[in-house]
Amino acid sequence: MNTQFHLSTSEYYAPFPLFRLDNDWQLTDINLAALVLFELTLNDDFKKSIKQLIVGCQPQALETSDSPDCPSLTKNELKDAATSAINDSIDSEEFGKINFKLTMISLPKLDSENSLERTAYIEINTTEFKEIFQEHYKKTLQHQLIWESYAISYDLILNEQNYYREVLNRHITTLSKDGINQVIDIGAGTGNVTIPLLAAGCSVTAIDISRAMLHKMHYKLSSMDNPKIKISMQSAEKLTELTDRSFDGVNILLALFDMDDPVAGLNAAVRVLRLGGVIIITEPKKTFDLASLLNQAKKFLEEKGSYDKLSSHWTRVTRANKKIDPAKRSPLFIEDIEAQLVQAGFKIIQIKDSHFGNCATLSAIKTG
Ligand SMILES: C[S@@+](CC[C@H](N)C(=O)[O-])C[C@H]1O[C@@H](n2cnc3c(N)ncnc32)[C@H](O)[C@@H]1O
Repeated sequence: MNTQFHLSTSEYYAPFPLFRLDNDWQLTDINLAALVLFELTLNDDFKKSIKQLIVGCQPQALETSDSPDCPSLTKNELKDAATSAINDSIDSEEFGKINFKLTMISLPKLDSENSLERTAYIEINTTEFKEIFQEHYKKTLQHQLIWESYAISYDLILNEQNYYREVLNRHITTLSKDGINQVIDIGAGTGNVTIPLLAAGCSVTAIDISRAMLHKMHYKLSSMDNPKIKISMQSAEKLTELTDRSFDGVNILLALFDMDDPVAGLNAAVRVLRLGGVIIITEPKKTFDLASLLNQAKKFLEEKGSYDKLSSHWTRVTRANKKIDPAKRSPLFIEDIEAQLVQAGFKIIQIKDSHFGNCATLSAIKTG
């Protein structure tokens, strides 16, 4: 597992960019505002660019900085609690030169002698860009907050529903077949497909943009012995760090509809699947009707006798669903996905309705 949350939830959502580094200057966590800043300004090789930025915060750079906040520091002094600051800039292709001040607070770790934990805070000093950044940050925050709420009730409500368990089974059965070892779960959420696939012996790369949903997955994974999983908290719209044709199976269970650029998400999924590999996708049909889906799901809970004890969770799930209603966006419906896959050289194996006829599951093999 490689996604650890070193920042608290409030640090993660703080409205200014910050990130945490360990004693060896390795990036251990990054908050939402910093992700937004770097996504807007750094090139595609995002992680490499962040590394270069971090090199700029290291002692050599601090020692030569002309900032009055930053006295020259010796190696030993660097083990003490300290604050330092540098003025620097990013040359962004889209927005030109962006000036910022980076303040670093280094604190000895209370539980480990001679080891520091460093938190870097960024103040953007280029006014026009600051406004653009704030707009993007607000939009990204709103999306994360929907999933912060939804994550609380997601498993409690969904796992009660037969229609959801049936869809999970389709995905898990398809991807547990012989010859499928490396699977990528795109929009993996709380791990309802990932975890059974791990239990079946697959290695899974789980990608999700929501910290809250991945937090739930972490909790569920803590009872597994050495699961073969890589977790990455990022948008699955590009997947630039993953090589072409590196997976035997791709799982997408209701994730494209929630992406800003679902076409890019589907293209990335196609790119990372090997020839002969299997893709399974459940997404809304063109006739998707949220009100009808919610009514039937509620009726099911009532008939099962679970509604009363879950009513507050049901309310939360309903509110979240209204905010991400595919009908209010321009998603790729399953019909569009089928057309795109055929064009990309896939052989469609099966398409089957799900979610009371509002969605469908498509499975296909990459042949060209
Ligand atoms: C309806 S949930 C499905 C979760 C899981 N696949 C399941 O079946 O339970 C949709 C998930 O897609 C994730 N998601 C939305 N946009 C995303 C993006 N651009 N990249 C990666 N994940 C994304 C959300 O955070 C959420 O966890």
